[in-house]
Amino acid sequence: MPSGTASFPPGVDMETILSTKALTKKFGGFTANDQIFLTVHEGQIKAIVGENGAGKTTLMNMLYGELQPTSGEIFLRGEKVEFSSPRDAITKGIGMVHQHFMLVPSMTVYENIVLGAEIPGEHLKFLIDRKEEKRRCQSLTEKYGYDLDLNEKISELSIGEQQKVEILKMLYRDVDILILDEPTSVLTPQEVDEFLKQLVDLKAKGKTIILISHKLREIMGVSDEITVIKRGKTIGNVKTEETSEPALAQMMVGRKVLLTVQNQYKPTDNKRVMLQVKNLQTNDRLGKLAVDHVSFTIHSGEVFGIVGVDGNGQTELVKILSGMMEATGGTVEYNGQEITNCLSDQLRKSGIGIIPEDRYGEGLCQEMSLCQNAIAGAVTSKPFSRHAVFNRKQINEYCQHLIDAYQIHIADFNGNVSQLSGGNAQKLIVAREMEGEPRLLIACQPTRGVDIGAIEFIHRQIIDFRDRGGAVLLVSSELNEILSLSDRIGVMYKGKIIGEVDPRTTTETEIGLLMAGMVPDLENGIRSI
Ligand SMILES: Nc1ncnc2c1ncn2[C@@H]1O[C@H](COP(=O)(O)OP(=O)(O)O)[C@@H](O)[C@H]1O
Ligand SMILES: [Mg+2]
Repeated sequence: MPSGTASFPPGVDMETILSTKALTKKFGGFTANDQIFLTVHEGQIKAIVGENGAGKTTLMNMLYGELQPTSGEIFLRGEKVEFSSPRDAITKGIGMVHQHFMLVPSMTVYENIVLGAEIPGEHLKFLIDRKEEKRRCQSLTEKYGYDLDLNEKISELSIGEQQKVEILKMLYRDVDILILDEPTSVLTPQEVDEFLKQLVDLKAKGKTIILISHKLREIMGVSDEITVIKRGKTIGNVKTEETSEPALAQMMVGRKVLLTVQNQYKPTDNKRVMLQVKNLQTNDRLGKLAVDHVSFTIHSGEVFGIVGVDGNGQTELVKILSGMMEATGGTVEYNGQEITNCLSDQLRKSGIGIIPEDRYGEGLCQEMSLCQNAIAGAVTSKPFSRHAVFNRKQINEYCQHLIDAYQIHIADFNGNVSQLSGGNAQKLIVAREMEGEPRLLIACQPTRGVDIGAIEFIHRQIIDFRDRGGAVLLVSSELNEILSLSDRIGVMYKGKIIGEVDPRTTTETEIGLLMAGMVPDLENGIRSI
């Protein structure tokens, strides 16, 4: 090892390309990153895991110069660095692809890649050397095997292709370290596989990668080392080959967790039709059909899962069924009665529980206390109030019961729900909806952004509800969730249910193809619709 090692900070050797020392970020009085120690080795894939809200994005934004630390230090190749902007970080060789892409949809692939990093002409500096730029873009796509048309508009590309453009944008700027924030959460299963292969290829070509994900299986498959972050603190550093999914889950949550729910379903014959949807339609804001003649039936004691890549009409479908959006055509019958375009209140009163996708916008009222949220929808009824007077004692007892039964962790019983973590906020909604003893439960992305421990709990609640005879509509973009909870699965693509599969016999490949709009065609193999 070269003699220069001695001048590096303690614990940092030559192979360490990037590290942090007690890196801290406060937002007002809230500490999002609390003395983070991170070490990234050159040429490796470092995974960062942690439940939602753990502080992963905040940490990455500091490494990328988008946020400035409150205290602590960042070292790049042993040298202390301070970035005042992403431009600084990129100049030093650190690039980042955000969770939400930042491309210009009306511009082409090539224009997006070079935007802000144009090459000046050789003789006349104010002229841009388009030829050289294009040549470089072309050679990059070839080098990394990206099958992209440089002249295509971003708006014409799939999400997976857009992600490649984001990565190319960074490679064009010659970064050595590539930070990817939850890159697979927007991809279909096939795109995920391809993406992970490309990560390994980037590594083989000498890049260092920091991969943020909460999907343990993916991380176990591609990473070399894993850092676990919990409530803003580094709580573990492990070599991937020395750990396992359950061990990581335990580290993230602080106790043992079951990664898949025990689901022993015994179909019965005397099932009642609880929900019948026929030819349902609605338009999006631009007047295009967002839900396109959707029909399905759900029986009592059954979970019907709908899966699809985000943005294929699932959100609108659930909104119609939960009274938050109007259908422009078709009918909905619940337990034999037509309920098309009824409002949420009426639906809840008739025995439908609703776990909405947007838990803060639609599920909870941030400014109100936990108790007020827990009894929302039932405030004016007995036993919570009589003759317009609240019965505080009853309300508090009821809340305490929910907190105990649903293991909701709260710091302050009288505090606002905005103080709850994502997982606990979601548990509160599940508790409120389940305690109403509904007969039909509409659950949309019930575990999105929820930590593994709370996921286990929510899954158990859904299965127990079904086993008690409840009917469930489960909409999720998490394939694992759909596969382990559903009794039947519908796949949604461009507003339509383009296929129904049996979770006991289907494969991830089959569902993935349907999610990408490919339907099996017996004569010609696969057909794209
Ligand atoms: N700009 C900000 N202002 C205030 N709080 C923030 C800001 N950014 C993030 N937070 C809070 O910091 C915590 C960590 O957020 P984040 O880094 O996005 O977590 P993760 O990426 O692990 O889900 C969260 O509680 C979040 O609400
Ligand atoms: Mg994040």
